[in-house]
Formats: sequence, structure tokens, C-alpha cells
Amino acid sequence: MKKSIWTLLLSGTLVLGACKKSPPLSDAAIIPLPLEISNGSGSFALTPETGIKLIGSGDHLTKVGEHLAEKLRPATGFDIPVSFDAGQIVLELTGNEFSEAYQIEISDAEIKITSAGEAGLFYGVQTLLQLFPHEIANSTVQSVNWEIPGGTIKDEPTFGYRGSMLDVARHFISIEDVKYYIDQMAVYKFNYLHLHLSDDQGWRIEIKSWPKLTEIGGSTEVGGGDGGFYTQEQYKEIIAYAADRFITIVPEIDMPGHTNSALASYAELNPGVNLPNGKLDSVNKAPLDYEMPLKNPQASELYTGIEVGWSTFAPKLELTYAFVDSVVREITEITPGPYFHIGGDESHVTEKEDYVYFVERVQDIVSKYGKTSIGWDEVATAKMLPGNVAQFWALEENAKLAKEQGSKVLMSPAKKAYLDMQYDSTSRIGLHWAAYVELDSAYLWEPTEYAAGISAENILGVEAPLWTETVTNRADIDYLVFPRLTAIAEVAWTKKERRSWEGYSKRISVHGKKWDIQGVGFYKSPKVIW
Ligand code: ACM
Repeated sequence: MKKSIWTLLLSGTLVLGACKKSPPLSDAAIIPLPLEISNGSGSFALTPETGIKLIGSGDHLTKVGEHLAEKLRPATGFDIPVSFDAGQIVLELTGNEFSEAYQIEISDAEIKITSAGEAGLFYGVQTLLQLFPHEIANSTVQSVNWEIPGGTIKDEPTFGYRGSMLDVARHFISIEDVKYYIDQMAVYKFNYLHLHLSDDQGWRIEIKSWPKLTEIGGSTEVGGGDGGFYTQEQYKEIIAYAADRFITIVPEIDMPGHTNSALASYAELNPGVNLPNGKLDSVNKAPLDYEMPLKNPQASELYTGIEVGWSTFAPKLELTYAFVDSVVREITEITPGPYFHIGGDESHVTEKEDYVYFVERVQDIVSKYGKTSIGWDEVATAKMLPGNVAQFWALEENAKLAKEQGSKVLMSPAKKAYLDMQYDSTSRIGLHWAAYVELDSAYLWEPTEYAAGISAENILGVEAPLWTETVTNRADIDYLVFPRLTAIAEVAWTKKERRSWEGYSKRISVHGKKWDIQGVGFYKSPKVIW
């Protein structure tokens, strides 16, 4: 009875408001763009009676339904009950496998999202949320016709690894901001968050067997602020929050270079005191090709600048490996995902042969604890264990070395995928050592054609890192990350043949309207009509 009144009211609204008729489904501002969109007849309208019906069995099924309802309730003011009994928005889990593919069918009577996996269902929900008018992003009730054009969407990702990285070492990023970032990643169907947990300026994860790492090494950051760190409980909280959004955490301990915060915490790990100018301290008079631990090693000083390439662990010191073993053991014990990132970049003061020896031993430690190593592309100069991954950021020759060893490459070319690069010379923060990366530049590249000799079968996926030398708060994150993160999302998810700058630049303007509503301080690129 109620329903027919609503149908009447709605059709009245449609007749009166014919000029407001929504565009066809194929014009919807979905990012990343799905594989196939077919227009149908009619449209589905959300009403106060609409509920979500779940079909199937899966640990996360109810959570996925609730996630959708929670996003729809504030702006519509509707109850949107979630149940296994009834509802016009149907979420059907057709299998119990890992699948990111999904289908959405929209008719007058219902919306049905189907997937053989919970992740796929979650991505279907993300797409559905992007089909509603942008006012859906409001946190207070809006008077809007919540209507979606009829049709069908079939979708699946190009790459299985779609990641972003937060450098929580240069500037510490609070748990609240990490969760905020995870929420944003989920909207764009990213599935890996890489946390750069240590660097010269800070150690950000509690290691119970080496407590001074956080007591001392976590006590500052670039610019001399207070720094901070995650307790293991807090790290687990981040992992659980991400897992609810089908995002897997990849922890990174960067080594043997980028290790000053550890060297400042424990004198005995020092081969000598490396100063930021790259010279050895006169105190210990130790050359870098030392053989023995120093008798009276000194801890290095905490560092709050932004130079790179001047610190190193001592690869010939056995204690180094006992230390690394403890760190890897404690972190892997609380990390459910398959990867452990060992860093390996810019170890400019580590002897070449020491570097290779170090990387190979650390890979063995990671493997012993049941994880697969990822390392920045330099690790390909060592013998990589089968299945290990090289993250291409700078040198094609390293990506080629990885390929020749049968290893996969994770594509993060700094000139395209680094979210901390300035947009242009006027950008208020960011660096530009790799390039200025305007939005169109971040969008217009193809991972399978970017590095000579590296093609689809060699590529694990794509990752967009945010280094934080110049990033101190959420406003800074917003400015550098949005809209570029969405460009990388589409590069990673959508097939090359489906992508066009013209299409993306139109769709992104709708996302800009949502960000304005949500208070996301994004960069209003002059390349887009917002
Ligand atoms: C890097 O940008 N040093 C990986």
C-alpha cells in the first residue's frame, strides 16, 4: 500500500521534473571506469521503504550490506534496513571464493549486485554509491530524487594489486588520518595499503624486544616535531579497519639505508656514526668496510632533515641480522597479509657487495616467517627469492633485472605515480625531483608500456606512494592526493582501451562536488572544469 503511494508520488515528480531526468547509466561518473556498462530502460528510485537484502553466506556479507546502508542513510534520511529477508537492493554472494569481479543490474523494481566473492560485492557497492546524485555525500538529509538509471554493469580489475603508500616515518600520521585514508582508498577500489614504517627521521611501530626504537627513534620527525608511533595494538586496529574494506596492509621496514632512527636508538647497531653529510664521524674513525663490531659504538643523532642516502646498517655485523629477525618476526606475527616490504632503496653508503649480501639474508628471514618480500627496485641487483617482488620507482634496468630473475614488478614510476610530486612550480607543498605531475600526467600512462621490456605478464600491479617530507596534516594529504589518487585508481583498474582523459576529466568533476561537500581540500586542477 505505502509502496504504491510512493510510486505515484515519484512518477508525479518525474513528470513534473522531466528536465531533471537523469542521464543514461553509461554517462555515470564512475571512477575507476567499469569494464562494461549497458543502458537499460526505466530507473530505480530509493524510497523510505527501500531495504537491503543479503543472499548467500560469508563472514563479511552483513558488514558489506551495513556499509552500503551507512553510506545511504545520512543524506536520504531513510532507514535502509539490512536483512536476509527482504529488500529492493539485493547483494548476492554467489560463491565463496576470492573474486573482485561483480555485476550490477538495475531495473525499476530492484538493484541486484552479484559476485562470487565478498570483495567483488564490496566493489559493486562502491560503484553503486557513485551512481546516486552527488548530494548522497552529505551528512544531513537532502531533498533529492534518489534515482538511478536502469542498465547493467559488468566489472573486474585489470591488476590484482592496486596500492597506495603512506610514509608515516618522515611525518607521523595519526591512526585517525590513516583510517580516513583507508576510507578514501576503498571508494576507488584500492586493495593494498603499504605503510612505510621506518626511515632516517622516525621509527613508527612498537617492537617489544627492541623498545628504544620507538622510545628514541619514534620521538621526532622532519622539522623536529614530536613524531609518534603505533603500538602493536594500534597497528592491529589499522589492519582490522582496512580488512573490513578489503584492504591488506603491507608493512615496510626500510633497510639497510634509511635507517638512522634505528641507529640513533641502539648504538650497537652502528658501524660508525654516519653523519647526514655522508661522511663517517671522527669519533670511531671507522671506515665503512669494517669487519668487526666497534668496541665503543656510538648511537647516531636523531635526524629531522630530508636528505637521503647517508645512513646504513652494518651488513657484516651478525647483530644486525638478530635485530632484523626480531623486527620481522614481531611485525609478521601481527600482519595477516602475504607481503613484507624490506625497503632497499638509496643505500648509497653501503658497499655494493655488502648490500647484495644484506638483501639476500633479509629475504631469507622474511621467507622464514612465511611472507613474500617486496623491495624497491634496487633489490633486483641481488638474487631475489622466487615470488619476491621489485617495486619499480626509478631505474628501468633494475625492473629488467627483476624480470630476468622471473620476479614480478610493482609499478610506481616516480614521474607518474608519486603523489608527493608538485603539480607545477606553484604548488604550495610537494617536491619535484622526479617531475611536476599534473593530473593529466598522473592519468596518461600505461603500466604495461611504461618501462622498456616490462609487459603485462611481468607486472603485479600499480602503487601510488605518498612521501611526507612536506606533508604535516590532513589538509596537506588532501591537497597532494586528490584528485591524483583517483587517476592512479583508474590506471590500475580499467583497461587501457576503456580509458580516456576526456572521459575521466568529466567524471572527476562530480567527485570534486562530493569532496566539496565532505570538506576534502583537493587540488582544483586547471585541467578540469570543476
Ligand atoms: C624512493 O623513492 N626512494 C623509493
